[in-house]
Amino acid sequence: MAFSDEFLEELRDRNDIEGVISSYVNLKRQGKLLKGLCPFHNEKTPSFTVYPDTRSFYCFGCGAGGEVITFIRRIENLDYVEAIKLLADRAGLQMPNDGYDDSLAKHRQRLLAANREAARFFHASLMSPKGKTALDYFLNRGLSMSTIKHFGLGYAPDSWDSLISHLKSKGFSLAEMFDANLVKRSERDGKTRYYDNFRNRVMTPIIDLRGNVIAFGGRVLDDSKPKYINTSDTLVYKKTDNVFALNFAKNGNPGSLILAEGYMDVIALHQAGFTNAVASLGTALTREQASLISRYTEEVIISYDADEAGQEATQKAIRIFSETGLKVRVLRLEGGKDPDEIIKKHGKERYKALLDGAANDIEYGILKIRNKYDIAFPDGKMGFLNEATDLLAGCNDIELDIYSGRLSQELEVDKTAIVNEAKKKRARRRSNERKNAFEEIKRTAITPKDEINPQRKQFVRAARAEDILLSSLINNPDFFDQLRNRLLPETFLTDFNKRVYSSLYSRLNEGLSIDLSVFAGEFTPEENGRIAKFVAMKKEISNTLNECFDCIKVLEEEKQKHNSVDPANASDDEFMSFFRKKSN
Ligand code: UTP
Ligand code: MN
Repeated sequence: MAFSDEFLEELRDRNDIEGVISSYVNLKRQGKLLKGLCPFHNEKTPSFTVYPDTRSFYCFGCGAGGEVITFIRRIENLDYVEAIKLLADRAGLQMPNDGYDDSLAKHRQRLLAANREAARFFHASLMSPKGKTALDYFLNRGLSMSTIKHFGLGYAPDSWDSLISHLKSKGFSLAEMFDANLVKRSERDGKTRYYDNFRNRVMTPIIDLRGNVIAFGGRVLDDSKPKYINTSDTLVYKKTDNVFALNFAKNGNPGSLILAEGYMDVIALHQAGFTNAVASLGTALTREQASLISRYTEEVIISYDADEAGQEATQKAIRIFSETGLKVRVLRLEGGKDPDEIIKKHGKERYKALLDGAANDIEYGILKIRNKYDIAFPDGKMGFLNEATDLLAGCNDIELDIYSGRLSQELEVDKTAIVNEAKKKRARRRSNERKNAFEEIKRTAITPKDEINPQRKQFVRAARAEDILLSSLINNPDFFDQLRNRLLPETFLTDFNKRVYSSLYSRLNEGLSIDLSVFAGEFTPEENGRIAKFVAMKKEISNTLNECFDCIKVLEEEKQKHNSVDPANASDDEFMSFFRKKSN
């Protein structure tokens, strides 16, 4: 992509990687490096590393990596040009006027603008005479005018085209409305007809962390079905990645976040002063949502509905959160089906009391198990203890001490017996885990799977030599002078590594500098992860010319072997070189 080197360099200089990343990740300095919990996968011990000297980052856990532009692409879900725009904005830099294709970025901006205009329209409709029933609906549910305004709630009129006409008058095209999922279309008699997606529904806008309206949830005013219509995934919205009301809840560095099930719960909670409430968007909690939440708080309090579905969802959410290292507590609703109802029936003080008394995940787990058994009988007692020790086997020693103490009192069973049983199970589990990990290593060692460079399977030895060469050159560009004659792009066997080297080769040949941002426009974020790995590999290689020459020899041998073995399966390049050799 055609941004000038000068522009990219200035962009890099003004957006130092440490500063940019630390506004998303809590980084701790370790000598020359910074480490933190990876924002791209769930983990409890930090394997996400930032290298200020090479202006790169790499996660040893999931392989995400690159430079500052790739980081922004991934974390903000943006394309290359949009990420550059964001960084230019952040640094107060003017974007160059030409030379790049920003049609996708522009289209996204149009969808966001259409959503914003739709939100205005819905809100105005709610406040107009035709919105009276809808406004009454909200007021009857106890919402105040200021809550309605704060959340930007609205009403989609009972009409097939009122939003379409409004957005048309504001200059939006049907294609834009369609791509934002604000309108739908049907084909009949060879004619395409467009109509409003949301009709006669109260509307809740979903707002992202930068304040964009990205989607809507529309609820019926009565008991008809479907209760909600939500925006489906669009260019600007992916429901599994977003968390409702996090834009409000994240303010003021909340020590904990309350996770509820529904939009209405969250709105009622905020109105009652619990402004740290959020919800997943009509889906079971996803890993992406959990990891997003873990970026903004240390503790999450699950406050799902009291019904069976809510309780099942709670267990699932506990499992997902357990991968994030977040502290988890579970609020047990008593006296109502959901937070909204509790507050309405018993007041916010009751909810506050439930919040304060929320059990941690272990207590909650024990409680769930207890409900299954009648512990007045020995059989019940045994069943309960058996499952409870399964649970305790996953706890640390302090937790084990506390809960075995409580169980021992309650059940009148010797505490050491409980502790021993749990520890026995823990040991068994660990040994199984070790065995599985070993099997996994064995399996992947035999058939290394590599999605970025799928030819690794075919050329294991060559791919390893190529990795070392690329790492050597990226970390020691001055080696190039000694290598340039023997190391050509064609020397490489795997296509991915050949592409990386071609890019390096042409820059180094022109005497240009090597910085990871060179690759940001040309390679996908995933591929940039691999290139960042070459930087991080510095520690594993010897960084000598001798090692490079050894690797080149390996490549030459492997190429020879490959060519002599099977010309029929060779790539075009390889076939040509095979052909040349024969005819010489
Ligand atoms: P609820 O049925 O609990 O909705 O579903 P609610 O928001 O609490 O609404 P009230 O209080 O009954 O009026 C919880 C969430 O599940 C999603 C919505 O996000 C909702 O807020 N959902 C529910 C849907 O997406 N579609 C549906 O048809 C129902
Ligand atoms: Mn509900």
